Amino acid sequence: MKLAIIGGSGLTHLRNLTVRERRVLRTPYGEPSAPMVHGTVGRGDVIFLPRHGQGHTIPPHRVNYQANLWALKESGATHVIAVNAVGAINGALVPGSLVLPDQIIDYTYGREHTFFGNNPEGVTHIDFTHPYCEPLRQVLRQGATEAGIDLAIGATYAATQGPRFETIAEIRRFERDGADIVGMTGMPEAGLARELGLCYASIAVVANPAAGKAAGEIDLRAIERFLESGMTQVRVLLEHGIPLLYGLTS
Ligand code: HPA
Repeated sequence: MKLAIIGGSGLTHLRNLTVRERRVLRTPYGEPSAPMVHGTVGRGDVIFLPRHGQGHTIPPHRVNYQANLWALKESGATHVIAVNAVGAINGALVPGSLVLPDQIIDYTYGREHTFFGNNPEGVTHIDFTHPYCEPLRQVLRQGATEAGIDLAIGATYAATQGPRFETIAEIRRFERDGADIVGMTGMPEAGLARELGLCYASIAVVANPAAGKAAGEIDLRAIERFLESGMTQVRVLLEHGIPLLYGLTS
């Protein structure tokens, strides 16, 4: 078993990661967002990959999700914790807080979203009833309890194209569809992970109320502040969750 962490906006490096080496990988799908950082958190082996590149230069619709997932699998990862910044549609979810989503609706388009697009041996379908890996969700849930971190359990993630934020009407539509949070990177990442047989879960960090859910326009500076405090909590959650995942608790 080996854990990979895909860092999102606000998490381009893991401060509590002891780095062993950085590996540049090429894949049949092109280059991943950055070199894979191999190291340990506590005593648990971790591979870290910043989704938007080391300097946060790759926008959500240009991320090479195929190369990223392929490279992690190639590096030996079996489990993936993805960190995703989101806007809150559900008013109970406040900026700066963490959410453990359990469902996804995919509104993205034009992204390479499958490894099975051109299979001469026949059409391949995969089950995606439960898009996130339940055992990994349970570990994160337990880690949050141990760390005393407030983690909202269960939410439907609306994956939107970006990089612009949404209109009020779009958010109303997502809400009618049953979405609680909205973000730009949840798909096709989760689907590709499932295609590769990776056990994948997401920690969503609420950066802002979604468009129309607070007075005025989306406040980009406030987003940065909430992402910073949210990511501090993510680090603490990972510090507690990783030993649980590896059965290293003494
Ligand atoms: N919408 C889409 N993606 C996001 C948002 C949002 O409001 N906040 C952070 N990522």
